[in-house]
Amino acid sequence: MTKPLATPLLAALLLLPLAVAASPLDDQLARYAAAAKAGDPGFAGFSAARGKTLHTQAFALGKPDTPACTSCHGPDTRGAGKTPAGKTIEPVALSATPGRYADPAKVEKWFKRNCNEVLGRECTPREKGDWLTFMAGQ
Ligand code: HEC
Repeated sequence: MTKPLATPLLAALLLLPLAVAASPLDDQLARYAAAAKAGDPGFAGFSAARGKTLHTQAFALGKPDTPACTSCHGPDTRGAGKTPAGKTIEPVALSATPGRYADPAKVEKWFKRNCNEVLGRECTPREKGDWLTFMAGQ
């Protein structure tokens, strides 16, 4: 005879590794996706191509010496960048700096600061998700 609790318990145990396997970056992307969808019901997922444009385009809407993300992060996502003050920045490509994007508070802090420096405003959840999707594939 099967015990009534056995099946749900087994299902929970089987699902546990999946829940544990989701990285902080995956969780953060899921939160940005939910926020993007809330703001735009037509939102159909993040785009690495849009993320690349956001990263490389010279907006020049923020500080004069940083028209683009690449002004500090450099033209090559797998190469080091440099701040206007000359401080070296580790590559932003996840493959080149595997420790990146593991701390949601750090990611948010720098999005806020850097988007203001380049775009003169905060990035939207969709822009953040696009940019992170691009970097995760680099
Ligand atoms: C004024 C220089 C500068 C500009 C311009 C800049 N960044 Fe950064 N960025 C930094 C520095 C410095 C750090 C923190 C050091 C580090 O993470 O290596 C950083 C870190 C980040 C992080 C956090 C990385 C992590 O490991 O969690 C994100 C996300 C980020 N930048 C996104 C952007 C985006 C998007 C743009 C363009 C809209 C941009 N940055 C433009 C200097 C800059």
